[in-house]
Amino acid sequence: MGKRILRRSKTSKATAVSPANIAFIKYWGKKNSKLNIPFNDSVSMNLDKCLTTTTVEFNPRFRSDKVIVDGKELAEDKKLRVLNIIDLIREKSGVSYGVKVVSKNNFPSDSGIASSASAFSALALAGSVASDLTLSEKELSILARIGSGSASRSIVDGFAWWKKGANNATSFAAQIAPESYWDLRDIVVVVEKMKKKSSTEGHGVALTSPFFKTRQKNLQRRTLGVIGAIKKKNFLKLGELIEQEAIELHVMAMTSNPPIFYWNKGTVEIMNKIRKWREVGLTGFFTMDAGANVHVICLAKDVSKLNSRFKRLPEVLFTISNKPCRGTQLTNKHLF
Ligand code: DP6
Repeated sequence: MGKRILRRSKTSKATAVSPANIAFIKYWGKKNSKLNIPFNDSVSMNLDKCLTTTTVEFNPRFRSDKVIVDGKELAEDKKLRVLNIIDLIREKSGVSYGVKVVSKNNFPSDSGIASSASAFSALALAGSVASDLTLSEKELSILARIGSGSASRSIVDGFAWWKKGANNATSFAAQIAPESYWDLRDIVVVVEKMKKKSSTEGHGVALTSPFFKTRQKNLQRRTLGVIGAIKKKNFLKLGELIEQEAIELHVMAMTSNPPIFYWNKGTVEIMNKIRKWREVGLTGFFTMDAGANVHVICLAKDVSKLNSRFKRLPEVLFTISNKPCRGTQLTNKHLF
């Protein structure tokens, strides 16, 4: 499943739409920070309400490279990160023209949702098709990973397993199960109205945490546990493991040098409420990526009950309810 061979096309413009994903097992720490080769495998689910659409055009008439995100030209450092992927595509395809990249997110930019996963996966597919490259799913996952590690997982449909691999050619994501396999939900509970802090900073100091080594030892068992729970649709097992994982990631961040605190009081309030509600039979489990907002994983039957409770809490700004969805796809709805 999930293998996607792209048809060659003669057009120099292509558009892709791609989801963000929530990590059940987190990528935290890089063995190679240029190529985003991680220390550990990670596991995720795509989020159908958190999408990035990106159009890429190579054109001999473009004098300079332009990158526009949500209506604004990107700052130089972020633009260089995008052009690094464009240059890899130019190298592979032999296309040397100027490029125009236009990208937009359908989720609020202040929602703290990682847009690098959806952004770099969309860029990898749109850029390669625009340059007439035919890449397999594996090759796309590798290309997206070089842009942002978590983007390697968004290429794949449904639930993804990014195997750390040993080098550039062996570090990529593959499917665990398609989106239709399990109707799991992720309610993103937004408690912080600001841009997500960079996770790149966190990766850089991950090894300074005294818990890093212990984590690496425990991770293989937990990762296989999460994959097994997805395959068996064992919700309670999955929930137990993803909460352990989320707490561990944030303890690592808090004990790094310098320490990084992603949580705010809303984060703690939601975690406490989720645990309390579980005691009375309303079952959700929390996980957080590199930010304060809480992803509450639950079954479809509990989404509206949980949502109405979240809406009553003063710390909650808004929520976004997601289902699992396909990975990066081509579309003909170009942005320019
Ligand atoms: C906590 O993929 O954003 O969300 O490779 O530097 O772009 P870069 O990092 P990024 O890291 C994601 C960290 C995380 C966990 C995860 O998604 O696995």
